[in-house]
Amino acid sequence: MAIHINSCTTTSFLVLLASFFLIVRATPAPNHVGPDVDLLEFPLNLEYLEAEFFLFGSLGHGLDVVDPDLAQGGPPPIGAKLAELDHFVNDVILQFALQEVGHLRAIKNIVRGFPRPLLNLSSAAFAKVMDSAFGKPLHPPFDPYANEINYLLASYVIPYVGLTGYVGANPELLRPASKKLVAGLLGVESGQDAVIRALLYERRELVVQPYGVTVAEFTNRISILRNKLGNRGWKDEGLVVPILQGAEGKVPGNILAGDRYSLAYPRTPHEILRIVYGGGDEHVPGGFFPNGADGRIAKSYLYA
Ligand SMILES: *[C@@H]1O[C@H](CO)[C@@H](O)[C@H](O)[C@H]1NC(C)=O
Repeated sequence: MAIHINSCTTTSFLVLLASFFLIVRATPAPNHVGPDVDLLEFPLNLEYLEAEFFLFGSLGHGLDVVDPDLAQGGPPPIGAKLAELDHFVNDVILQFALQEVGHLRAIKNIVRGFPRPLLNLSSAAFAKVMDSAFGKPLHPPFDPYANEINYLLASYVIPYVGLTGYVGANPELLRPASKKLVAGLLGVESGQDAVIRALLYERRELVVQPYGVTVAEFTNRISILRNKLGNRGWKDEGLVVPILQGAEGKVPGNILAGDRYSLAYPRTPHEILRIVYGGGDEHVPGGFFPNGADGRIAKSYLYA
């Protein structure tokens, strides 16, 4: 009897297995994320930005040395360079850099993607972000590569935007393979954001020289700027907030950003473009992307 049931089960299992392979075989390889392709390609823009900023910051060179194939012939970034970092921060940033290289590979394993876009990672590009955040030019201009604290503040500008993008993309995705990829990317991006925020939170009362402004105030200004540029409400919070904005409305410390339920905020691609282009308009490239971002979504705004 037992044997009979077993062979029955085995037969249905084999039928199931066969139909599974038929379905899989009927679907050409890249199509398992078919309708999600644009949403999976879009974050390559940010992953290129992060990879180059962290590679140059920790090693003094970028993808063209580490893995030229991944750049796919895209132009080298403008103005990126080795940052003056102590051993600890350098060690952390190098790990982030290599994680971003992995992310580029992971995305390109699933979608065709595009070559590295032109990136402006010059001190001047970061200085402009900080000037906008403070509503006036800082003297001397902010230099992300000058020391640990400046580099960490500059890093505060980047993975968080990617994180909100992955949170925003998730409910739009249709295929399990896409959701699996985005969940994996989100996990590590939010880990990077958490490390950067934790390192800054430890130094939140430190006065950033020569500006006479605390680390906490820098993060608040940057977050307010991103809320303004994204122009879709409150999705960004500094390290110290009014108590009502802290977790459960009970604490001013804000080591991680989150909504009233401490859930991560979502952003759409056009909100992200408004921020990384620096001018609050997804149709007008600039900021870190002088020629605009690549992929169908970004291009649809550029040529609209
Ligand atoms: C890079 O950004 C700085 C600051 O906005 C700007 O002055 C410079 O012209 C930019 N470089 C390119 C090639 O866009």
